[in-house]
Amino acid sequence: MSYQRKDPFYKKAKDKGYRARSSFKLKQIQKKFSIMKRGDLVVDLGAAPGGWSQVASEFVGSNGTVVAVDRLPIREFQNENIIRLQLDMQSPKLLDFLSNDIKREVDVVLSDLAGNVSGNWDLDSDRQLYLASLALSTAKKFLKKEGNFVTKVFRGANLKEFEDEIKDEFEFIKHWRPPATRKTSAEEYIICKSFI
Ligand SMILES: C[S@@+](CC[C@H](N)C(=O)[O-])C[C@H]1O[C@@H](n2cnc3c(N)ncnc32)[C@H](O)[C@@H]1O
Repeated sequence: MSYQRKDPFYKKAKDKGYRARSSFKLKQIQKKFSIMKRGDLVVDLGAAPGGWSQVASEFVGSNGTVVAVDRLPIREFQNENIIRLQLDMQSPKLLDFLSNDIKREVDVVLSDLAGNVSGNWDLDSDRQLYLASLALSTAKKFLKKEGNFVTKVFRGANLKEFEDEIKDEFEFIKHWRPPATRKTSAEEYIICKSFI
């Protein structure tokens, strides 16, 4: 609790009504890389409790839509342009929903997916890479040509394998650690623009 009180992003998130301090990571990614624009359809994988979806909702505006996907329940939002889906992100129901209910191409896929952390660096970074790979294969099913993709990874021995997996899929790829990332965290994000 005392750690949270000292954390400026925790306080800022509370003041602004964001559900997670991680909202600021997405704001910082957006400011630096302009991954979303007004009117976009954004799919947010691993969205609970909803901090990233709130930020994406602001950037896409009332003509845009955010589909917030998590296997955990997500509390209802005040933002009318966010649709919540309680699903495993690999479920075929996600593709069905996008094809049959939304009926438009996806402009941006975000993945802040995370599992339980064991404390073993190699194991955790491999698990995170596996989630990033799953997010990429899910994204490739519905991301439009020239669409953007952002995924969380942990710095670790096998990051190169994932980089090889994505390098021919996007025109622009960059690793970045937003300033709002906790100093003690191994996480960073891979920002991929313009799906080929
Ligand atoms: C770090 S949290 C996301 C925080 C979120 N970006 C925010 O700002 O509120 C990671 C989420 O990934 C979800 N997750 C992990 N694996 C998943 C899967 N296979 N399908 C759906 N959600 C998953 C977890 O349930 C968890 O809610």
